[in-house]
Amino acid sequence: MENRAGDHHDGMEFFPLSSTGSASTTANDRGLLAMNHEATTDEKLSSFFVHANGGTMSLPRPAAEVDKEMALHGLSVVEVRRNGGKWEYLKDSGFNRRVHQQTDVELSGPVRGNALVITRYSTGGTRIRGTLNNCGTGKTPWNTYLSGEENWAGYFTRAATDDAARGDKSVVSLKRYGRDQGASSRHGWETGGRDDKYQRWNISKTGASNDGSDDYRNEMNGMGYIVEMDAYDKTRPIKKRTALGRYAHESAAFGKVVVGQPLAVYMGDDSRNEYIFKYVSNAVWSAADAAPADRIATGDKYLDSGRLYVAKFAADGTGQWIELSIANPLIAAYAGYKFADQADVLVNARLAGDAVGATRMDRPEWCSVHPTTGEVYFSLTNNSNRRAEPSGSSQAAPDAANPRAYTDMKGTSTQQGNVNGHIIRVREGTAGAAATGFTWDVYLFGAEAGAAAASVNLSGLTADQDFSSPDGLAFSTATGICWIQTDDGAYTDVTNCMMLAGVPGQVGDGRKLTLNYPRANGGTLSVDTYVGKAATPDTLKRFLVGPVGSEITGIAETPDGKALFVNIQHPGENTASSNVGDPARYTSQWPSNAGYGAGKRPRSATIVITKNDGGRIGT
Ligand code: FEO
Ligand code: CA
Ligand code: CA
Ligand code: CA
Repeated sequence: MENRAGDHHDGMEFFPLSSTGSASTTANDRGLLAMNHEATTDEKLSSFFVHANGGTMSLPRPAAEVDKEMALHGLSVVEVRRNGGKWEYLKDSGFNRRVHQQTDVELSGPVRGNALVITRYSTGGTRIRGTLNNCGTGKTPWNTYLSGEENWAGYFTRAATDDAARGDKSVVSLKRYGRDQGASSRHGWETGGRDDKYQRWNISKTGASNDGSDDYRNEMNGMGYIVEMDAYDKTRPIKKRTALGRYAHESAAFGKVVVGQPLAVYMGDDSRNEYIFKYVSNAVWSAADAAPADRIATGDKYLDSGRLYVAKFAADGTGQWIELSIANPLIAAYAGYKFADQADVLVNARLAGDAVGATRMDRPEWCSVHPTTGEVYFSLTNNSNRRAEPSGSSQAAPDAANPRAYTDMKGTSTQQGNVNGHIIRVREGTAGAAATGFTWDVYLFGAEAGAAAASVNLSGLTADQDFSSPDGLAFSTATGICWIQTDDGAYTDVTNCMMLAGVPGQVGDGRKLTLNYPRANGGTLSVDTYVGKAATPDTLKRFLVGPVGSEITGIAETPDGKALFVNIQHPGENTASSNVGDPARYTSQWPSNAGYGAGKRPRSATIVITKNDGGRIGT
């Protein structure tokens, strides 16, 4: 079970292998696909998607079912090779690897050994089992795999009286990261039995110790990081790079790599009204590190010591990176939470972002760096809590960088906020990776082609290229194409999720515009924003549309750009629970209906795209 590929394939990277099986950056016929297995289909349905005869959805959950579900989450490495014109995977490759919820993983960087990560499993606060809800990915300049831990909070439960049992500031942190007392866990894994591997999902304070070494009160502080794995060497440790901060991570994209300069890593926190971050290494780049003897040691050098910044966008088209440092008076004196040290700032990066007044964004998903301009593109997938007249602290008013709040119909249901999402891009100041100032604009606004041109369809999308909820986003280094993938629920009354090919210009190639929102009690909220050059048929094309109910995600290509691997996540996910016992009634039966496999249950899967003439994809 723990040697099978997981479920819900998400971010993915290709690691070339030479003909003799050594690490390469140029080989095109053989390689390793490293990928994330984010989740399983909603638990009420997953019993049928995952368990052959349906599962037990009441508590306690049977250990055998929990074991299977835990094994489905994590990472995979699978060897693939070109055999004639076709790609195949190698079931018996020595490189094949699974990382799941029982895999020992190291905490690395400033949080390692801190009081906040002491658990019964690791009384020294140096280790944790597994990596969870892995979504976007990244690839380091030294050829290792990065994986972002996203919606991990939902897997943990807390007792209804845990606030009083704790009686300390950890309650503030837990609430900020989505675990109020009394929260139930997504799959009930903590009920699988008395074994520690189940008990760890209950993060209530149950022990008598002062430091948490006799329970799992701190277990959730070990999730929420960028995780580094050497896809080529399964004997090397997997490390959570805590210097990059703890939040709902998506992808991690390196800025342009310049010898003698620090490295910048761009990242987003995918939750409504959360932040965009940049990490800058203390070490400066050495060309010799592009092909090091020890890749994980190279990760230690660049990813364990540096500065973490959060983005603040201004209405004049500029912005600032604000360092999240315990030395920052706004952080040291923050009334909302008393930070103990820099590790505390990193573990509670959301609270640190609050302290410095960072810009609340429309759910930052993937980011990627344009191969020639070096500008950084962030997909902002959507935000149902963006409102012209916000109500309560969970909602935010439109601002320059998140300027839309509107109403869209899906059938007879009303959708509100930034329904369709947008893609923002940032040009760093002259200091490059280390810059603390930038300029920005919005590359594209997602919209339905028929939506109001003056307030919603601001990029002028037509029916051949309109899209909603951009999520996966990556530039091809072979072709320069900006691949955009959608994870949408707003426009799915008209189209399934899709993948588009974009050829962007640069920051400032469009126009300034002002959106006006009438106030209920009089007056107008005017929001200035900056939108890039409108899309044309030559600069934005729909490339593929996926099966019903699926998200399109994962972008990995061979170095020559002639094979493109894409993941189809959770086809048929929206099957009604009353239908799932009968496989013939799944809303999607992909990929069996495409000739792969005999069963009718839909399955997440990886596809590979090649051209009949053997050319580069998308050109
Ligand atoms: Fe797993 Fe933010 O998508
Ligand atoms: Ca609609
Ligand atoms: Ca995503
Ligand atoms: Ca998503």
